[in-house]
Amino acid sequence: MHTLLIVDDDADVLATLTRSFRKGYKTLSASGGAAAITILNEQPVDLIICDQRMPDIGGDQVLSHASQVQPESIRILLTGYTDIESLLTCVNDAHIYKYVTKPWDPAELNLSVVRALESLDLKRELDTARDLLESAYQDAVVMLCLAAEGKDQDTSSHLYRVKYYTEALAIAMDVKTKASSHMGLMSMLHDIGKLATPDAILKKPDKLTAEEWVIMKKHPLAGVRILGNNPFYELAREISGGHHENFDGSGYPNGLSGEAIPLSARIVKLADVFDALTTKRPYKEPWSMADAFAHIESQAGSAFDPIIVAEFKKLYDNGTLSRIKDAH
Ligand SMILES: [Fe+2]
Ligand SMILES: [Fe+2]
Repeated sequence: MHTLLIVDDDADVLATLTRSFRKGYKTLSASGGAAAITILNEQPVDLIICDQRMPDIGGDQVLSHASQVQPESIRILLTGYTDIESLLTCVNDAHIYKYVTKPWDPAELNLSVVRALESLDLKRELDTARDLLESAYQDAVVMLCLAAEGKDQDTSSHLYRVKYYTEALAIAMDVKTKASSHMGLMSMLHDIGKLATPDAILKKPDKLTAEEWVIMKKHPLAGVRILGNNPFYELAREISGGHHENFDGSGYPNGLSGEAIPLSARIVKLADVFDALTTKRPYKEPWSMADAFAHIESQAGSAFDPIIVAEFKKLYDNGTLSRIKDAH
């Protein structure tokens, strides 16, 4: 059942409105602006019908407050006179749904309320569906990565650490928060192309031969192919295709240099190498953070983008990197 808040300092109006909406809704009433604000601060309200002129706090202010504390609520202003200034405040600050003049037509007001709540329900359903879809695709990405990683010697914690290093670096590079967490998630797909690499090469304990390296170096583009052409995986394709490029142009598969390498790939490359250095692999013991960082720094400008290395240093100095490492 929807909750309606009705606000009016005129007791008769308040009683009439409350009576007309009591059937079918949970109605709350307030006899002034201050009382309305208290209710808004304490409980969720779906729709507010608020009088404009009240002795304590005006309806425009009550509705502005509602738009801040309960932005989803539908706001209807009821007024006995046309005051352009307060109407402007309502439209600009309170984002009101409707402006109804007294005396109002009860049938019309009722219809407005019904329509507004229908659209509110629809919006909520859409939000729920979107949240479900979002968590479904996130889980699908993780499942795919974990399945692929079974073939490789990397562990799932490697993928999670790369994800969080990537996210922290993206934020440091001024990528917006939502895009940064998307980049983090997509970074988990960096080696998805290894699905196409034969196990004999992936799991070979000895050094690879020159011919085997040729095959190994195909994994970035194999990843791009696996990731298809859905626009949603655009960033993952950039990362897969570019995470073995070097800033000075000496990497593979395309020998791109500088900013021709997508930012996402430059970031993930650093996150991936740093994590490989600081963790135990079958062929090596973990390096200390300091040694790994010194190694990364020595390759600023050759393997890595020096600007990203500088941001990485800040994350190293302020403890972000060790926090991520310890948590995963
Ligand atoms: Fe790789
Ligand atoms: Fe990796």
